[in-house]
Amino acid sequence: MARLYATTGSSFARLDETPGGWTAEASLPDSAAQCLALDPENPDTVYVGLGAGGLRKTTDGGRTWTDSGLPEHQVFSVAVSAADGAVYVGTEPSALFRSDDGGSSWRELAGLLDLPSRSTWSFPPRPWTSHVRWIAPSPHEADTILAGIELGGLMRSTDGGEHWQDHRPGAQRDVHSLAWHPRTRDRAYEAGGGGAAYSEDGGATWTPADDRAGFWLSMVLDAQFLLGLILYVFLSPFTHAAFRDIGGAMGNSGLRFWLVEHGFGMIVGLALVHVGRVRARKTDSLRRHRVVAIFFGLALVAIIVSIPWPGMPAGRPLLRW
Ligand code: HEM
Repeated sequence: MARLYATTGSSFARLDETPGGWTAEASLPDSAAQCLALDPENPDTVYVGLGAGGLRKTTDGGRTWTDSGLPEHQVFSVAVSAADGAVYVGTEPSALFRSDDGGSSWRELAGLLDLPSRSTWSFPPRPWTSHVRWIAPSPHEADTILAGIELGGLMRSTDGGEHWQDHRPGAQRDVHSLAWHPRTRDRAYEAGGGGAAYSEDGGATWTPADDRAGFWLSMVLDAQFLLGLILYVFLSPFTHAAFRDIGGAMGNSGLRFWLVEHGFGMIVGLALVHVGRVRARKTDSLRRHRVVAIFFGLALVAIIVSIPWPGMPAGRPLLRW
């Protein structure tokens, strides 16, 4: 029979499946319980983070609770490593703690607060502060930990939390949740305020997962480029005429359009789309939309001015039927 644990923002709930349906039992009433983590070794052991009362632990599935004596009170995230059983807790203001004895004693992972980006961390509804919104210890590699600051970035440690790498390229800065793939060692996922991202190198670098439109735009333009090249070199009577007398073609606005302007303008548009996608991938999520708008906007202008619109010397009808 299945059992579910949940925190509701005010209390803790345990739901048990029975032959007659589900039963629900609430505990920790009005405690601002807002996050939880299960000990992967023992389904009766649960850690619950309270919005104002620190960390509570149960070893009997939520019937009795003990206070874990965490020095900070506003707990926003908790995780238990499936690799070595270490318990991690994240708070507001942003701070990270680690326990290696099941929550009896705590050590602050102060290296997180040495990161250069720390002065920029700010949670928009309370801009004077920020919190550790999510902690994801790798289930495959005990020393690799991801921590998401809301709003500050996706940080990574490869030595159990002693030292931290600042916001990872390609990741969303507004981290909401993180997950490791249970079997594929280096694969991790991020859901953030501005979109999603994934990593295939253990969290070192990230790829935005919301670039489908950009991908298809560049595919279509690449195909059109190949088609244009074939027309240009082999099939077009205009370019053939222009090649025979390049000097003369340059003085004829219709031939010059096909010889130079059309192809050049389209290649510029195409290059802007490709460069824009690469730049967007390397830009953090807060500025990514601006980069995409600038590069794709300029590409659109280059493509529009290079089309043989009706009425131009090399103009083509819009409709042919
Ligand atoms: C990348 C995006 C491109 C777009 C959107 C595009 C668009 C077009 C359009 C709308 C036409 C007119 C088709 C018609 O109504 O007959 C055309 C024709 C042509 N394009 Fe492109 N083109 C692109 C790239 C290129 C490139 C890179 C080249 C050359 C290097 C090129 C060379 C030509 C030639 C030679 C023709 C045919 C002229 C003729 O009718 O003989 N195009 N293209």
